[in-house]
This record gives sequence, structure tokens and C-alpha cells, in this order.
Amino acid sequence: MILRQALQRASEALASHDIEDAPLEAELLLRHALRMSRTGLYAELGQEFPPDKTETFWQLIGRRLAHEPTAYIMERREFFGLDLHVDHRVLIPRPESELLVEKAIELARRPPGSPRRLIADIGTGSGAIAISLALNLPQSKIYATDASAAALEVAAVNCERHKVADRVWLLQGDMLAPLPQPVDLIVANLPYIEEGALGQLSAEIRWFEPMSALAGGADGLESIGRLLAQAGGKLRPQGCLVLEVGRGQAGAVTSLAESHFPHARVGLAPDLSGMERAVIVEV
Ligand SMILES: C[S@@+](CC[C@H](N)C(=O)[O-])C[C@H]1O[C@@H](n2cnc3c(N)ncnc32)[C@H](O)[C@@H]1O
Repeated sequence: MILRQALQRASEALASHDIEDAPLEAELLLRHALRMSRTGLYAELGQEFPPDKTETFWQLIGRRLAHEPTAYIMERREFFGLDLHVDHRVLIPRPESELLVEKAIELARRPPGSPRRLIADIGTGSGAIAISLALNLPQSKIYATDASAAALEVAAVNCERHKVADRVWLLQGDMLAPLPQPVDLIVANLPYIEEGALGQLSAEIRWFEPMSALAGGADGLESIGRLLAQAGGKLRPQGCLVLEVGRGQAGAVTSLAESHFPHARVGLAPDLSGMERAVIVEV
């Protein structure tokens, strides 16, 4: 069988299991099995499939047919232009969370005379947000916390890979408790899926991603509410928060923020689909 035929068959198999973007996913897995670039693959499509790679490739396709996300199969995901290691210990970073990074960079650089240099990323998972901030804010020091020791192992791999281990301090513990000092800026993408919606998530998410990264309690706002309740004691003067929220949660989180910080300026930022995705609290 030549590579073009294998690609076609894999794509059809994925499509028959209702896997979105089947042709793209088949291509990614084929390139992963053959360790080939996109241009390399397209130049070789007429060549015979290497016999020693056949089993590996169809095993990868089998895993995807069983709904394992491609990012876990390939153990990588791109976020904010960075190649990150990901595996079942962490949530796969989502493109919409890049908005948090953009907003946090803006806030960290403002005001120009006294930038906000001390930052905390709460619930860091793979370290995606903390590492993106460290690379774009070279003067900053970042505490990246997570309740999950296993997630922090992944974050440590990514900090080493991107050479920011000297500026990103990984701390295990609940919410803001591990922070050794108040900070200028708190960024958090905490679990926010409400209990009743967990069962409706795709098999990819429900069966493979850590539930502790998703479940936000009865109304989805348990973690975010706890963070806001604690934040007052962990923010320096002129401090601010950037929080990711789920669909329809921006209003409730704004009210929560206003109740904990009655004098703060609370704003919202939409993601690329137009959904209010980030709540920004300037204390
Ligand atoms: C939605 S994931 C976000 C991961 C990463 N920040 C990202 O954007 O890809 C939430 C993360 O919060 C962590 N987490 C959940 N409850 C926590 C708590 N009480 N304290 C600290 N971290 C918590 C989870 O382990 C998980 O890594």
C-alpha cells in the first residue's frame, strides 16, 4: 500500500466514527508515525508504506478511534506558538485560553512606569499560561500552582523545554495557599464545568481528560468563587485578576468579583467566537 492509500483509509475510518476533521487528524497521526514534516509527507505520498511502521500507524489510528485525543496520542500541543508536552496528567490547553495570556500581558505591561512583574497562574496544568507569560514578559517572576502533583510534573517538563525554569516557580497546593507573597497579577483557568453538564461532554474529554481539571461543582463556579474570596489577601496594591469563564458564566462571575472587590473595575473580554471568555478585575 502506498502512503496516499493509507492516508485515505485512515481518514475514512476516522470519519466513519464521527471524528471531526478526519483528514487532518489522519495526516497528523501518519506524520507522527513516520516522523515526517508536512512537506516531506506530501512529497512521498506515492511511495510504499514502510513495513516497519505499519503496525505503529494503525495502532495510533486505533487509539483515535477509541476517542483518545490526538494531542495525548502525539504527546504534544501547540499553545501561543509554543510546542508543549501534554499527556493524560493535564488538560489539553485550549486555543481560547490564549486570550488570558494576551490580556495578562497587556495588564502586566501597564502602567509603563511600574509594570506588574509578580504573577501567579493558578491551576497551571501543563504550564501553558505561565510559560507563555514568562517568555513574553522577561522581567517577570511567575508562581504557577496546581493542586495536582502529577500536573506539575508535566509543567516542569515544559518549563525545562522552554528554558524558563528559573523564573516559573511550580508550587503544589490548593488555590492561592501556596503563594509565598502577594502578587501583582493573578491569572486562572480553573475548572468551571457545572456538574449537570459533565455527562454531555464529548467522549474525548470525559474519558481521557482529568476530571479534576474540569468539574466546577454544582453551578460550575465553585473554584472561581473560592479564588475570588481568597484573592484580596494575595494581591498587591493595583493588583488585578484575569479569569477564564465558560459559556453564560460572565455575568455571575462579574457579580461575584464585584461583591468581593466593590471598588474594582470589572471588565469582560470576548474570545474569537464572540463569547465573553475572560473576566478582568482591576482592584
Ligand atoms: C481547566 S485546567 C487549566 C489548566 C491550564 N491552566 C490550561 O489553561 O491549560 C484547571 C487546572 O486547575 C487545577 N486545579 C483544580 N482545582 C484546583 C485547586 N483547588 N487548586 C489549585 N489547582 C486546582 C487542575 O488540576 C487543572 O490543572
